[in-house]
Amino acid sequence: MAISKSMAMALNKQFNEELNSAYLYESMAADFNSKNFHGFAKWMTAQAAEERTHAEKIHVYLTESNERVFHAALPEPQHTWETPLHALLSALAHEEYISKCIHDLVRSSRKEDDIATETFLGWYVTEQIEEEANAQGMIDKLKMIGDDKNGLYQLDKEASKRQ
Ligand SMILES: [Fe+2]
Ligand SMILES: [Fe+2]
Repeated sequence: MAISKSMAMALNKQFNEELNSAYLYESMAADFNSKNFHGFAKWMTAQAAEERTHAEKIHVYLTESNERVFHAALPEPQHTWETPLHALLSALAHEEYISKCIHDLVRSSRKEDDIATETFLGWYVTEQIEEEANAQGMIDKLKMIGDDKNGLYQLDKEASKRQ
């Protein structure tokens, strides 16, 4: 069963949102690298790579549904954040926005009785819980550390271990 044109367009929008997420996290990585937080930079680079796989999954789904993706222009991301905590708070806010986008897509698929797309989106619903938890986990640690330079150094080192 084919998906509707409006569903294809909505999924295409999400495809671009995922690439936009990657772009944002790459910008955070660049900012971290410029401030010698190479561990946080690596964490963000890994996050950006994940976002590209999220986009790729939608690309594949649309292709298999006899549709195609269209690449939109990406907005210029913010270039600098005051502290690692500020960056991670932005990342969490962004993930909450993405969760909302995914939930809206699920609602649309239900309205259209598009069971295939609803099932496809289930993976994203679960993934978003993990995405928000990852950002929140870093925020909790950064808040615990506060202004302690040594703590920040240790956390940066720990963040570098993310694959
Ligand atoms: Fe994503
Ligand atoms: Fe994400």
